[in-house]
Amino acid sequence: MEIFKPFDIDYTYDPAWFEPKSLVIRRTLEQIYDIFIEPDKAMTVLKKGNPVIVDVYMAPIPEEAGHLMVFMTIIYPGKVGDEYYMTKGHIHDSDTAPEVYITLKGEGKLLMQTSNNDCFTGEMKKGKINYIPSGWAHRAVNTGKEVLIFLGTYPAESKRDYSFIGKGKKNFLKIVVEKDGLPEVIDNPVSVR
Ligand SMILES: [Fe+2]
Repeated sequence: MEIFKPFDIDYTYDPAWFEPKSLVIRRTLEQIYDIFIEPDKAMTVLKKGNPVIVDVYMAPIPEEAGHLMVFMTIIYPGKVGDEYYMTKGHIHDSDTAPEVYITLKGEGKLLMQTSNNDCFTGEMKKGKINYIPSGWAHRAVNTGKEVLIFLGTYPAESKRDYSFIGKGKKNFLKIVVEKDGLPEVIDNPVSVR
């Protein structure tokens, strides 16, 4: 492997700022409306506009073995029906790709699950670091009234696999909904085991 030159990343979270970055992944409601259990309610929102749900800023690090990717994710506040805005969620295509999230601002839940249908919900808030072992799919959910911002890192060569998400597929086995003003983790009524 070529010797890579060290560099520093500058970030702030109020407002969200992360430089240098080589890629911004932006997910709007139009792109991911069908990850929510009531996509028809998303369609009602889309008639009035197309809100941004998630932005991910990726550092300029080669997506190759021997590197750690570093990124910052912003999940905007909001809901589709009772279900909070969230990332699409994925699993890494490698048995050797754990990940770490460090929350900078806001609060949320980190839904995790294995292929054996074991589930775990991590708490995301300032002062928490979430460790996601290899083999655990993961989705972050913004349960607060402000943005949820976290930093993350994972082995840079591993790719994100979204193939279990979609109509008629396994999806995430748990979802997070607002009930009586508070977040509640419940079974996903549309997951197919
Ligand atoms: Fe990941």
